[in-house]
Amino acid sequence: MATKKGKTKIQSVPGMSDILPKDQAFFKKIYTTVNDFSSFYGFAELTPPILEYTELFEKGTGDDTEIVEKQMYSLRSDGGDYLTLRPEFTPSLVRSYIENGMISLPQPVKLFSYGPVFRHEKPQAGRFRQFNQFNLEVFGSTKPIIDAELIYIFYNILQSLGIKDLTIEINSIGDQECRPAYKKLLLKYLRKNEKFLCSDCKKRLKKNPFRILDCKEERCQQVVSGAPQIIDHLCKECHNHFKKVLEFLDDLGLPYNLNPYLARGLDYYTKTVFEIVTEDKDGKSKMSLLGGGRYDNLVKLFYGKSVPACGGAGGVERIIAAMKEREIQVLEKPKPAIFLAQLGNTAKTKALNVMEVLRRANLPVIESFDKDSLTAQLKVANKLKIGYTLIVAEEEASKNMLIVRNMKTGKQTLVKMERLVKEMKKKLK
Ligand code: HAM
Repeated sequence: MATKKGKTKIQSVPGMSDILPKDQAFFKKIYTTVNDFSSFYGFAELTPPILEYTELFEKGTGDDTEIVEKQMYSLRSDGGDYLTLRPEFTPSLVRSYIENGMISLPQPVKLFSYGPVFRHEKPQAGRFRQFNQFNLEVFGSTKPIIDAELIYIFYNILQSLGIKDLTIEINSIGDQECRPAYKKLLLKYLRKNEKFLCSDCKKRLKKNPFRILDCKEERCQQVVSGAPQIIDHLCKECHNHFKKVLEFLDDLGLPYNLNPYLARGLDYYTKTVFEIVTEDKDGKSKMSLLGGGRYDNLVKLFYGKSVPACGGAGGVERIIAAMKEREIQVLEKPKPAIFLAQLGNTAKTKALNVMEVLRRANLPVIESFDKDSLTAQLKVANKLKIGYTLIVAEEEASKNMLIVRNMKTGKQTLVKMERLVKEMKKKLK
């Protein structure tokens, strides 16, 4: 809240915005598209709570990640619990999968989630503190076709929203077998080049050197461009898995770019990691619309028993920004063809009844009940270029009739209430 000359100005929190009526159609379009795709491909919708125990993310997202280190909105409740507004869905879905015994269902279990997430980042274009994500997660399969299927579904979701210029960035970051040896090699190289790294990456060198691979600073990217690549150091199992995923993508004709430095900055990933990116309007920078990967050890971290998993999440606001940049239109509610006018006090409630009759008949109608004069109401109808105005006037209403006015010709006819829906459907055909 900002205070100016004794007045308190109430504002929204930076990085957290209202979703205004003019943008609702975009949000609905994305939800229905993802919902259609996910139910078609056998994903069941699961909505976890927004607030979870902090420990879930500390352990799940990982202590050494940017999210846990700097970006969580955490609080201590009156009861003394440490709670956090979810910064991502994946740990919540792992928790729910375990807590609800989904491990004993036929595997794989496919889940879809949608909703707001919270990260305390520096607000800027495409980076918010509250934003919406859709998530698809598959639990219980090690098979590379699952990685490819997810990428295929995500790619087609974005395509069907009208974003065609997409590239899939993909890499394998190995597993507990091959990553430790690669980490040693990487550390050796990075230590040799430490003086060229940014101050954040100097700290990352001690805690999580893989995060340096994702650093956007030019000087760090230069160092990274000469670093050893994990792809050359994968164990046989990871190598074969990745090879299969790429073969599937080739067969599916998906445009991917093998990016040996894609690390994804979250602790839980194993093997495949991917992002779907698009260029901004002037082609200067790339924006990641969606990201994900395999996380074969995360369930084990909480449950003891190993359950392989793979998934990804799309950023709804970023996708909407990309749609708007490309001038992609989304269909708003159908424009009403009927205006409902009323004349006189008792006519107002009668008109409300008519409104409900028309709603049940699925006939979109608009009204202006706060206006009393017919002239004022017809003015609104004309402005909206409405085809027909129904006039509920006291005298006619007492005989269970109303007036239908053709707004183009000005011709008026009397219609019986019980024949109204039939008549209007005929006129609007
Ligand atoms: P993530 O890459 O952190 O992955 O986020 C996924 C998507 O959320 C990004 O590609 C981006 O579109 C959007 N996003 C991230 N941060 C912001 C922000 N500050 N403002 C606006 N949009 C943002 C995850 O969250 C993983 N849980 C994905 C996953 C699911 N991996 C496996 N399963």
